[in-house]
Amino acid sequence: MSKQRVLTGITTTGTPHLGNYVGAIKPAIEASRDDNVDSFFFLADYHALIKCHQPELVRQSTKEIAATWLALGLDTDKSTFYRQSDVPEITELSWILTCMTAKGLMNRAHAYKAAVQTNEEEGEDPDFGITMGLFSYPVLMAADILAFNGEKIPVGKDQIQHVEMARDIAQRFNHHFGELFVLPEAQVDDDVAVLSGLDGRKMSKSYNNTIPLFLTEKQLQKHINKIKTNLLEPGDPKDPDDSTVFEIWNAFANKEQVQYMREQFAAGIAWGQAKKELFALINEELSEARERYNALMENADFIEQELQKGAVKARSYATPLLEKVRDAVGISAIKK
Ligand code: TRP
Repeated sequence: MSKQRVLTGITTTGTPHLGNYVGAIKPAIEASRDDNVDSFFFLADYHALIKCHQPELVRQSTKEIAATWLALGLDTDKSTFYRQSDVPEITELSWILTCMTAKGLMNRAHAYKAAVQTNEEEGEDPDFGITMGLFSYPVLMAADILAFNGEKIPVGKDQIQHVEMARDIAQRFNHHFGELFVLPEAQVDDDVAVLSGLDGRKMSKSYNNTIPLFLTEKQLQKHINKIKTNLLEPGDPKDPDDSTVFEIWNAFANKEQVQYMREQFAAGIAWGQAKKELFALINEELSEARERYNALMENADFIEQELQKGAVKARSYATPLLEKVRDAVGISAIKK
């Protein structure tokens, strides 16, 4: 039986936080241990340029995200872990696909439509601040996927549309030039937790409400102390299902620990105490990985080596495929 190819990208803006860990990184690394899957994980640094024009932030985020995945135990022999910009076949394919993609399809992309809508609401020109990068972003994402014939694409709900667009684009290419691409499918796991952030909204770098994954112990406790709670006093029974503290506890706890904390809430545990226990739980899960992370952040050469190893593996698939793609569209050596 051939292995199923699972592929996903991580945009290199921002520092990994607990929401990323629980909702994406941890399940991805666990799934990659399955012998029936062939995992491709990459740092989407060309995607970062869409939103971020600060080179030092892109560089720092790329390093942090790479160190995070390695510190959390990603096996880079079993899976393929690479940086998008080290695989020039992706950007090459992106242009070829751009020429096969209807502009009307891109007009319907959520991210672009949301930007236009914001402009209209603010009385700006509809195109204000919108780059071709933002507009064409689903094509680059299609190239990310199709350059490796990724089959299952684990993504958050906001990215389903993009995977469907990749599928449309692949279909159109195949129909016109021959069957070179596998049609990808989004894989959305409803069981993984979507964490709330400090203010109770979804934890997200765009809301500035995150708890970074690898803080010092002191900083971690400080962040946890900032999680918004209601004004109930110690001794007052509290509703666990209406509490960010409990929600995060739930994402890290085993069954017995979940039950234990439910009982504590019913018995009126003080917020300060609940937060202390939450710190201890998270800290226990992350402390070894944190040490590895700190060591890796001091060892740039090792991170770079791992990424180069990944790029070689990734290109061993993409290079021959791109050769076929180029040939199919009429770009090849002069023939008789
Ligand atoms: N756009 C995705 C996000 O913002 C990241 C990404 C880039 C991606 N290329 C991809 C995800 C290819 C899956 C497959 O989350």
